Amino acid sequence: MTDTLQALTSSILGEINDAKTLDALEQIRVRALGKKGTLAGVMQTLRTLSPEERPVFGQAVNNAKEDLENAIREKKDMLEKEKLMKNLEDGRIDVTLPGVRFPKGTVHPLTQVIEDLEDFFVGLGYEIEDGPELENDHYNFEMMNLSKDHPARAMQDSFYTDETMLLRTHTSPVQARAMLKRKGQPLRIICPGKVYRRDDDDPTHSHQFMQIEGLLIDQGVSMASLRDVLKQMARHLFGEDRDIRLRPSYFPFTEPSVEVDVSYVKKDGTTGYIEILGAGMVHPNVLKMGGYDPDVYRGFAFGVGVERIAILKYGIDDIRHFYTNDLRFLNQFKGVE
Ligand code: DAH
Repeated sequence: MTDTLQALTSSILGEINDAKTLDALEQIRVRALGKKGTLAGVMQTLRTLSPEERPVFGQAVNNAKEDLENAIREKKDMLEKEKLMKNLEDGRIDVTLPGVRFPKGTVHPLTQVIEDLEDFFVGLGYEIEDGPELENDHYNFEMMNLSKDHPARAMQDSFYTDETMLLRTHTSPVQARAMLKRKGQPLRIICPGKVYRRDDDDPTHSHQFMQIEGLLIDQGVSMASLRDVLKQMARHLFGEDRDIRLRPSYFPFTEPSVEVDVSYVKKDGTTGYIEILGAGMVHPNVLKMGGYDPDVYRGFAFGVGVERIAILKYGIDDIRHFYTNDLRFLNQFKGVE
């Protein structure tokens, strides 16, 4: 009997050893150790044995059962590990495959001009200031030397929200705010931002546009300092071969005031000039109101139209392209991220 049991056990051990999958192993387990399995069948034969033989054989069957259970457990561990490794192997990510590309926007041309000029002026020691778009009449006009009945107010037809508040018509009020903040100390700032004027939109006019205000206050500042900075700026924007021209003009907040043109080569080869900004020496009244003694300090200021720069730089034919979000237009300003 014991011999037969041994032969059976080793044949099942062989099957366990050969099992290739967890399913196959489970089938072997059920066939060998299940309620109606091989070993259960062998146990049935116990009855046919003599009372002396029974415990010995019973013990042998139990040992065989234990051996098979151990072998199955070990094999099961092994197959599970194999399966895990295979899953890991199959699910492996190839990091060298190209990824899914997300459509990337481009930096708006006006933002490109602003960021370019910010870099330029920060390089010259200027700080970047910010001011409110909904501005007090007091800062927008009065602190800029435009009293209530000043005729030049008519040049900047405005959007008022009540008696005293309006959408700022220029970035110049930031001059006043910056002066009051510095409390009489020398300063150099620029302020890029949106401005608003009541205007009918057409290819060259928009009721909303952008400016960059500049202000420098110190001792010994002159028109020559202003001219030097603006020439550097024009060359930075349009190329080293450019020149600038200053024409007398009028702004209530500067005296003298100038309009500044940049040179360009016309189609016929001669030199032409295009206006790019307004500028001047800060008016003594503006200095005084800002808390600076005009006998000690002088300042220069300028206001650049951002659209104007972008139009000239990129050859754009209609100012409205900047605001209508047409991707055919915007996609042409790639390259800066
Ligand atoms: N604020 C003026 C405008 O909107 C532009 C300007 C001219 C600004 C001369 C200045 C300046 O700072 O000095 O038309």
